[in-house]
Amino acid sequence: MARKKIALIGSGMIGGTLAHLAAKKEMGDIVLFDIAEGMPQGKALDLSQCGPIEGFDAKITGTNDYADIAGADVVIVTAGVPRKPGMSRDDLLGINLKVMKAVGEGIKNNCPDAFVICITNPLDAMVWALREFSGLPHKKVVGMAGVLDSARFATFLAWEFDVSVKDVNAFVLGGHGDTMVPVSSYTTINGIPVNDFAKIKGVSASRIDEIVDRTRKGGGEIVGLLGNGSAYYAPATSAIAMAEAYLGDTKRILPCASYVEGKYGLDGLYVGVPTMIGAGGTEEVIEIELSDEEKSNLKVSTDAVEELLEACRGLDESLT
Ligand code: APR
Repeated sequence: MARKKIALIGSGMIGGTLAHLAAKKEMGDIVLFDIAEGMPQGKALDLSQCGPIEGFDAKITGTNDYADIAGADVVIVTAGVPRKPGMSRDDLLGINLKVMKAVGEGIKNNCPDAFVICITNPLDAMVWALREFSGLPHKKVVGMAGVLDSARFATFLAWEFDVSVKDVNAFVLGGHGDTMVPVSSYTTINGIPVNDFAKIKGVSASRIDEIVDRTRKGGGEIVGLLGNGSAYYAPATSAIAMAEAYLGDTKRILPCASYVEGKYGLDGLYVGVPTMIGAGGTEEVIEIELSDEEKSNLKVSTDAVEELLEACRGLDESLT
């Protein structure tokens, strides 16, 4: 059987980390693509030289030519620019929308059978636009957000309760960002609902609310600390978990920005929902029971996503 091919579009901080993780796990051969000349080639060379030390067998190449991603099984997209001081949301949207157009066409022309994971922000709008521009089936294009957001929630809960992070199963829904919906009713400590566990541990409901709030702002907290960039280790790790579920056909249930049509009362948009990932891509969106409060929080979140899609349509006429 031929080795799998993993194309990374964008070879910046997340792209480089993705390449390292994918190589260490021997997920397949790796192509780093970027518009910056020399940079993906340099990173590929550097990472290749980890092989003899770490003992991995993966061919890693860097390129500025979309032809080199031909036949990729998995594509992970981080191409784009981050929001800089003075840049409005629409400025950022306009720039990254153009990037998604170029990337979508590159994928359509070179690896239309790939499973595509988008990481570029604003995530829920960019994954939708990438799907539109690439023309791939909705099940083959997904956004990475929930795995990261729930990992942040789990980390903070494990710290608060002083328990192993392995026993925390955190659950978030909705858009990536301030409107995400951490769902306490489905969050457990090895099966014990988080609110019950909090009572056992003498942790107040308001403290749990603070943790939820910190989770929502988890990306911004890291941006503030780094000073000149955004998180990359955990975002890359999250996308790799999704890629592994696809390549291994493991049917994992992961919170992803998936295309939702019908379920959750939604009519065709990408938003964070529990999703089964297997060889077919995002094989099934799982609809869970929500409390009235969770429903209304999800509505706020999906309304914010809808607003971004409207802005995208206003910026590019080809998006209907
Ligand atoms: N095609 C390919 N690559 C591009 C393009 C393009 N049209 N435009 C920009 N890039 C590349 C840049 O050259 C850069 O190397 O995308 C890369 C982005 O890397 P970083 O700036 O290091 O950003 P990173 O931290 O990796 O985050 C990428 O993920 O979490 C989101 O908000 C984050 O949207 C951002 C993305």
